[in-house]
Formats: sequence, C-alpha cells, structure tokens
Amino acid sequence: MLLEGKIALVTGAGSGIGEAIAKRIAREGASVTVADIADAGGNRVVHEIRSEGGVADFFHADIASPDGAQQLVDHVVSTYGRLDLAANNAGLAERPGLMHELDPAEWARVIGVDLTGTWLSMRAELRHFMEQGSGVIVNTASGAGLKATPGLTAYSAAKHGVVGLTRTGAIDYVKHNIRINAVAPGTIRTPAMEAAGESQMAEWAALMPTGRMGTPEEIAAGVAWLFSDESSYITGTVLEIDGGYMQA
Ligand SMILES: NC(=O)c1ccc[n+]([C@@H]2O[C@H](COP(=O)([O-])OP(=O)(O)OC[C@H]3O[C@@H](n4cnc5c(N)ncnc54)[C@H](O)[C@@H]3O)[C@@H](O)[C@H]2O)c1
Repeated sequence: MLLEGKIALVTGAGSGIGEAIAKRIAREGASVTVADIADAGGNRVVHEIRSEGGVADFFHADIASPDGAQQLVDHVVSTYGRLDLAANNAGLAERPGLMHELDPAEWARVIGVDLTGTWLSMRAELRHFMEQGSGVIVNTASGAGLKATPGLTAYSAAKHGVVGLTRTGAIDYVKHNIRINAVAPGTIRTPAMEAAGESQMAEWAALMPTGRMGTPEEIAAGVAWLFSDESSYITGTVLEIDGGYMQA
C-alpha cells in the first residue's frame, strides 16, 4: 500500500473526482476525512469506504468561507493527531457564456470556491504542515488552467490561478519538507459533467484523442501517486491526466 498510516483530507469528496480520490487513498492505507458541503454525498462516501474496511469520517466544510478550511484542518488534527496529505479538489464551473455577459455574482461564486477556496485550504494546511515539519498537497486544477477554454471565463481564470498557487507554493515551501503539486484532468465523467446530458458528453468524448472521457479513478490514481513517496522528488508540477488532450 502506498499510503499506509497517513492522515488525509479531501475536499469536494462527496462526489465525482473527490469521491474517487478519497476511496483510492483509503485503499492505499490512509485515514481520510471526507469534506464537502453536500452532507448526503459525503456520508455515503464514508459509509462505502468503511464497508470496504477503510478508515474515514465526514466533516461538513465550505472551503469558500474564511473559516471553513481552517475548521476542517483543526478537525482532522484533533481527530487523528496530525495531517499528512491534502487534496484540494472542491470546485465548480459557471454556465457557459461569453465574458462580456458574465454576471459579477457568478464570477464571484466561481472564483470564491475554485481559487479563493483553494488558497484558503492551502493556507490552513500549510500552517499545520509548517508546525509539523512535513506535508503533501495536491490541488485539482484543470486543462482549463493551462489553455483557453471558450465560454468559461471565471472557471478558466480560477484554474489558471490554482496552477499559480501550486507553482508558487511549491517553491516557497520546498525547504520545509512540503511538496505541492496539481493534477489537470481533461474531460472526466462525473456527476457534474453527466448533468450536461449524453449527447453533450458524446461531443466531449469525440474531442479527446482517446475518443472517450476519462474516469474519476484515473485522476485518483495520479493523486495517490503524487501523495506517495514514489514522487518524493516532484514538486510544483501540474500532472496532465487527459488522454493526451493538451498535446493534440
Ligand atoms: N469533471 C471534469 O471533467 C473535470 C475536469 C477538470 C477539472 N475538474 C475539477 O475537478 C474537481 C471535481 O469536479 P467533479 O467533476 O468531480 O465535480 P462534482 O460536482 O461531481 O463534485 C464536486 C464536489 O465539490 C463540492 N463542493 C462544491 N463547492 C464546495 C465548497 N464550497 N466547499 C466544499 N465542497 C464543495 C460539491 O458539493 C461536490 O460534491 C473540481 O475542482 C473541478 O473543477 C473536473
């Protein structure tokens, strides 16, 4: 097992990619706090991890609120005594449209969760990691953080920002035994994407060099590896898990 005895948190773990990360790292031996604003999804994931013999608990955390991420880290440390691994994965996108039509409230909502929420999460985690003298962060960025994403102004800006947080944090904390990386998923079949309907998903799949969307488990595999000592010399990287989309 890659992560035996490690203590982890995953945000947005009540669904999709976060759910797959939580389940995978629990199978690799980590104890996992499943964090989400969606209590039903989060509790379901905890139940499923426990029924496989894993260790998990649910904590309701809104990472976009100034106190939410700090309360989450405090909860993990008071429950398990430490925090080793943090997957900052919670995120959402606006309804597609052009930049000049984007409502400021919608801009603020997406930036608030995807960018500010990731920074608030990293801030709380880093405060603990600095005291502890170790830690690993993996942020969920996106292909939308590395290239233009027509129709998704706020999402693309936020995910480019997540890449900036990852790279800058990696260098600022490298001497403190803290590694910070990101994954950049391509088009992944999750409840958020399934909401667009089967014909839209078929169009997305056709755009991929592989001819198919990715699975949440394929992202989780990358996160588990970036968390593990197998990637001990890797920090500040953005791992594209997209079936070659960025290179096509
Ligand atoms: N699905 C894709 O194709 C894709 C591609 C690239 C990047 N991503 C990124 O992956 C991450 C997960 O996406 P997904 O497709 O699994 O979506 P999803 O909607 O299935 O899951 C996202 C989860 O985040 C939670 N969440 C939302 N706001 C929150 C907040 N303020 N605090 C705590 N939890 C919150 C939701 O309740 C939900 O359970 C997001 O950051 C998304 O931008 C997804």
